[in-house]
Amino acid sequence: MKIIIINGPNLNLLGKREPEVYGNETFEAYFNQLKSKYPSIDLSYYQSNIEGELISKIQEVGFSFDGIILNAAAYTHTSIGIGDAVKAITSPTIEVHISNTFSRETFRHQSFISPNAKGVIIGFGLKSYELALQSFL
Ligand code: DQA
Repeated sequence: MKIIIINGPNLNLLGKREPEVYGNETFEAYFNQLKSKYPSIDLSYYQSNIEGELISKIQEVGFSFDGIILNAAAYTHTSIGIGDAVKAITSPTIEVHISNTFSRETFRHQSFISPNAKGVIIGFGLKSYELALQSFL
């Protein structure tokens, strides 16, 4: 089973970015743990701070992979383009967020991804990614 985690802007700073909101762990460390916990899954990871690169990656994997776990970060709340890309592809996409976006500023309550996601997992810290992964099993 081929699954990819796609992370959007500023998520490359996990571990040092607002640790009270996002925790102390780097995504690379968490990703390596996930990979060794689920050895039967062909799990890959992509991160970009650039909206168009995220759209290109979604298009590239979105007709062949078994699933996409997408944290579009701030673009979740602004990007019609990423929302359209998720709508255009055939691979099921799970939207995830580390923090509970509904307990934060109102601009984080809107998502252009959710209407076209298979499901949404919000607010469980980095564990949100693992819960998304388990949903594909
Ligand atoms: C986030 C929530 C977004 O509102 C924010 O812009 C992020 C991270 C999360 O995972 O909690 O960068 O997607």
